[in-house]
Amino acid sequence: MTDVVLVVDFGAQYAQLIARRVREARVYSEIVRTTITAAEVQAKGAKGIILSGGPSSVYAEGAPTIDKEIFELGIPILGICYGAQLLAQSMGGTVAATGRGGYGRAAMTIHEDSALTVDFPKVSDVWMSHGDSITELPSHVTVLASSEDAPVALFGDTQARAYGVQFHPEVQHSVHGQDLIERFLHDVCGLPGTWTHASIIETQVAAIKTQVGTQKVLCALSGGVDSAVAAALVHKAVGDQLTCVFVDTGLMRKGEGDQIDATFREHFQVDLIHVRAEDRYFEALAGVTDPERKRKIIGELFIRIFEEVARELGAGTGDEGPKFLVQGTLYPDVIESGSGHAANIKSHHNVGGLPEDLDFDLVEPLRALFKDEVRAVGEELGLPSDLVWRQPFPGPGLGVRIIGEVTKERAEILANADHVVLEEIRRAGLYRDLWQSFAILPAVRTVGVMGDGRTYAYPIIIRAVTSDDAMTADWARLPYDLLERIANRLINEVDGVNRVALDITSKPPGTIEWE
Ligand code: XMP
Repeated sequence: MTDVVLVVDFGAQYAQLIARRVREARVYSEIVRTTITAAEVQAKGAKGIILSGGPSSVYAEGAPTIDKEIFELGIPILGICYGAQLLAQSMGGTVAATGRGGYGRAAMTIHEDSALTVDFPKVSDVWMSHGDSITELPSHVTVLASSEDAPVALFGDTQARAYGVQFHPEVQHSVHGQDLIERFLHDVCGLPGTWTHASIIETQVAAIKTQVGTQKVLCALSGGVDSAVAAALVHKAVGDQLTCVFVDTGLMRKGEGDQIDATFREHFQVDLIHVRAEDRYFEALAGVTDPERKRKIIGELFIRIFEEVARELGAGTGDEGPKFLVQGTLYPDVIESGSGHAANIKSHHNVGGLPEDLDFDLVEPLRALFKDEVRAVGEELGLPSDLVWRQPFPGPGLGVRIIGEVTKERAEILANADHVVLEEIRRAGLYRDLWQSFAILPAVRTVGVMGDGRTYAYPIIIRAVTSDDAMTADWARLPYDLLERIANRLINEVDGVNRVALDITSKPPGTIEWE
């Protein structure tokens, strides 16, 4: 069993960050709800527990807490912010609103060395965000460090291997935060850090083999990172029991189909069915301008085509056909938040709605992984780095970047324009710094002049954003000379374009995509 450290989520946005920091220390982490019982903690074989921050006051009525018996299990505990206050309270200490909360950078002074701060400087910067403070601790608990506004910035009961930090070690502004987390994991919990990308692959390959046995497996490749890495993992596990399906909708990025062929068919020698369905898509989309209808049509046609292929391969007919379907579901899609509400489960348009009689079981080899881990696993498996580092691309593809009716001509213009934008962004070394960068084609034409003649052609809008998670985004301040190069190339090289504009809307109030 993989050693696991549980991160109890008290409802702040920090739990995911903590879980990722733990994994950066090469220790497997799972986010769990506050309702977890001591028995469940034991059943998971937890080697350490981290209590996250949260917005409540521990003394408030109805404030989230955890099963008291968890504190008695003898498993090392690290409480962070709210988690530290809860730990202090459970030890018999007092938490109060002293009117001296701390927000932002603070200087922490260490009074007594401990396992968590070996080799730390006496004073270092930490990041605080708390209204309440720990005011009293019982005599067996030691105050190890303090700051001006937090008399108890770090405390511990060495015997019980229970520590609390009032600051946030998981954020980068806490200069030695990651060191502190690593000390806790490696030295206090005794976890050396064996959760490497190679070990993830090994574990997943074994799990897939067990799940699938000798049955056949189907996987839809979208051109994106997740389905590619999932397919590569499954292929490593069960080889030619896997068949991949790539549906070319005519709404993909330029060269995407060729790259899929080169990577999967030629390099990995995966059994790949490449369906050229452009004409069906353009036919189905003719005359449609409403964004949601476009999405629906594109999603439903995908399902229909996938279903046709699956039936041809014998799905739903008994023992001969594929029984399993690969899904690139990631950990953030399955985490349930501390408040008990299920996180928004992304609707993967490519499987939702498959007819019941096809009745696939899902293989989800990325279910425990964060995006950065998926990329690292992809690289380790030998996928090309421009596929592994690909920016997100919406399922409906260029269909929602042509504003108005989607036609073959417009899709070709946009794919060419998008290619120019991406090529220049890559050349400028900005591709990985941007969350997304792409072209949009509004189905209006404007007047221009080229050479001696008047032109009447489409404008292209450049959209480039920075973001951490697509929930909010800022427009990227691309250098003027880069914008100029992109604009010149778009007008000179892409037939049908005579004007270029830049979108400088952040999200909110805008969205990243235009539809
Ligand atoms: P918005 O435009 O809402 O997009 O700011 C947020 C993120 O989601 C992507 N996106 C989609 N992805 N199907 C998808 O698979 C869709 O219909 C879709 N619409 C938007 C978008 O590219 C951005 O990363």
